[in-house]
Amino acid sequence: MKLEETLMHFLLEHQEKHRRSYNFLFLMEALFSAAKYIEYYYRTGALSGNLGGTSLVNVQGENVMKMDQIAHGIVEHYVRESGQVIHAVSEEIDDVIVLNEKGGRYFLYFDPLDGSSNIKHGLPVGFLFGIGKRNLSGEEDFHIRRGVEYIAAGMFVIPTGVFTLALHDAGCWRFHLDETLNYVRPHKAELPEASKNWEFSYNSANMDHFGQPVKEWLRRNASKYAFRYLGALAGDFHRLLTNGGMFLYPAIVNHPDPKKNRPEGKLRLLYEANPVAFMAKEAGGMAVNENGEEVLSVDPFDIHQRTALYVGNRSLIEELQPILREMARMRQPQAPVV
Ligand code: AHG
Ligand code: MN
Ligand code: MN
Repeated sequence: MKLEETLMHFLLEHQEKHRRSYNFLFLMEALFSAAKYIEYYYRTGALSGNLGGTSLVNVQGENVMKMDQIAHGIVEHYVRESGQVIHAVSEEIDDVIVLNEKGGRYFLYFDPLDGSSNIKHGLPVGFLFGIGKRNLSGEEDFHIRRGVEYIAAGMFVIPTGVFTLALHDAGCWRFHLDETLNYVRPHKAELPEASKNWEFSYNSANMDHFGQPVKEWLRRNASKYAFRYLGALAGDFHRLLTNGGMFLYPAIVNHPDPKKNRPEGKLRLLYEANPVAFMAKEAGGMAVNENGEEVLSVDPFDIHQRTALYVGNRSLIEELQPILREMARMRQPQAPVV
């Protein structure tokens, strides 16, 4: 029998090494307890009738599934109990959730169940989160954190028992759920530089409605690599971290049905794009938006704002970045010629 290093032991060592508080451990314990509970509900969901929809539509205008609500309730419960969080933002709740403004130390941004279209099939979904920190050197202004201010971000891919956690300036790590329901065996995830196994991942049904230069770049480049698309960012990004390549969800423009245009992108900045961009950065990669700006540097103005996302190996993103910047320049209103 080989006993493995646990996530809690890994975190204790990390906090000691960097002379950080144990508060972070209380928050992490809340998050992985929540993930295990969601995992249990999801695995037994078909038998207990929890994989269906509700009659509700959320703030994003999307149909709410029972599992979206169950997962949100579980996360909110554990996070509230931990006492560590000042404010939380969840995809499933319109407003900021005020938790412990006086005693909390962290800000939490989460998507409790990512990849809702996979739910009714019982296929992999995710629980994504990013963590910001209270201003310890002055008065707290409660501003919404940019991705560069996150101290950690992660994702649980459910029901696979795999957890990825990136820590600021300390790498991106993978853990697996063992027989006793402990997350164990930390190993470092790094995007492979060699392009042998690189994959592209995007909704190809949208391709005609990507910006023209993006479409042309994809036509020139995508066929050099494999193509995979699960339809759940957490699962698609999980593959990417191992195999390398690029996941993209560009802006949708010029759709014949104008209602289907998404000039601002589809994914949510705080709890989808930023966590993934943060993990990618710690794994040696990079993420930019439709303007070619680093996703992590974007100043949020709304807790549920959307963004286009191009994330993956640095060399690929850097190749695309000038094309996106040029596209952004062309979108600017041109000065009249006098
Ligand atoms: P959610 O289920 O939390 O609303 O997120 C779904 C997101 C993301 O997970 C995925 O990458 C993307 O939507 C898939 O969108 P398409 O179905 O348009 O490809
Ligand atoms: Mn999502
Ligand atoms: Mn979701």
